[in-house]
Order: sequence, then structure tokens, then C-alpha cells
Amino acid sequence: MKIGLFDSGIGGTTILKTAKQAFPHEEYFYIADSKNCPYGEKSDLELQKIVSKNVDELQNWGAEIIIIACNTATTRCISYLRNKYPKIQFIGTEPAIKLATESNSQNILVMATPGTIDSERTKTLLKENQKPGQNIQLLPCPHLADTIEYNYNDHNFAPIIDTLKTIFSEVQTTPDTIVLGCTHYSLIKNQIQSFFQHAKLIDGNQGVIHQLGKLIKNSQKH
Ligand code: DGL
Repeated sequence: MKIGLFDSGIGGTTILKTAKQAFPHEEYFYIADSKNCPYGEKSDLELQKIVSKNVDELQNWGAEIIIIACNTATTRCISYLRNKYPKIQFIGTEPAIKLATESNSQNILVMATPGTIDSERTKTLLKENQKPGQNIQLLPCPHLADTIEYNYNDHNFAPIIDTLKTIFSEVQTTPDTIVLGCTHYSLIKNQIQSFFQHAKLIDGNQGVIHQLGKLIKNSQKH
């Protein structure tokens, strides 16, 4: 099958890599839309234009399944995209709040872009999954994704660490679980872990791969 993915840059490459390992016989197309990075600080209207352009391009290449390899674009635009392109099968990437709350975690820190943190979808995920006694802090991380986008490939970690220091000054209690609610953050797991050595770090990537497996299997039945 032809599978398209897009993100505001390199964040979604972790999903691409895992998908290729899990399903090596499929054909993949990836849009690293770094000229529009960061998505997480844009309005819904701006985002809708940007994501439509990416989907049009992937559709032109023949993509039958499109993975939105970006939490921001998923939480803010997936319903819009499903309405606009009913023939395409979309898979979204969401902050793994459900997974985090299913564990015994007491203090969960959700890191995501301001756009994801403010989204209705994140509020719903919280409302549906938070257990009694569980403390969940939603932590907006302004400009972390773009700092990663512009420095990661050069191994220039100092600006990334500086941005993390500022962001983490808002953390209220020591987290036992950290949800990486932006695909860019999966690239800097080691740097995040160095601030909270005992925390378990989780992202939404496995959920995406699971969903992709189901769609591939389904298509083989027809
Ligand atoms: N990697 C993206 C996400 O998962 C987008 C980050 C951004 O461009 O702000 O949210």
C-alpha cells in the first residue's frame, strides 16, 4: 500500500522508521514541512490550509493511508481532514494520556505544543482517562519543537537544553511518567530524561503502528 506521512519537520521520522521496520513491504512518502514549523503556535485556519496542502500532495503521490505524524495537526485538524477527504484513511498521533493513566502513575506530566495543550481533544482525553488520585499537569512547551527542528540534525543540543530549562521551571511536582505529546520530543528522550531520571517516558508512536497494522490487514481482505 502507499502510505503518506507528514509533520512540521523531522518529528514524524521516528514514526516513519518504526512503520518501515514493522511493515517493510509497503511504500512510504514523507513530507517534512519544516518551512511551516512550528505548527503548535498557529491558528486553526492557518493549520487547516497547511495540512490540506500536505494531504493534496500525498494524495497526488497516490497515498491511500495518511499518517498525521504530528500531535498538533491531529488534535486540531483530524476531524476537518476526515470531512474534507472522506476517501482517505487517516491515522492520527495523539498524546498518550490514556496509556499513562492506565499505569500506576501518580504524577503525570504531559508535554506538548501550546496548540495541542489548548485543543478540545486533549481536554477530552484528560476527562475520559484521569483516575481518582492521579495528578496530571499539562505543560505547554513553546518553541521546543522548532528549537529541535533547527538544531537536532547539527547535534547542537545547548539551545534545546536551555529551552527545556525554561519550560521545566513550570513543573510543579516530580513526575513518574512523562507523556511526550509532540513527535519532535521523541528525538530528545535522553535530554528530557536527564532532568527527570526516574520518570518513564512514553509517546503515541506505538498506537499509530498498531492502527496502521489494522488498516493494512483490512486492505488485504478486499
Ligand atoms: N511534531 C509536531 C507535533 O507532534 C509539531 C510541532 C510543531 O511544529 O509545533 O505536535
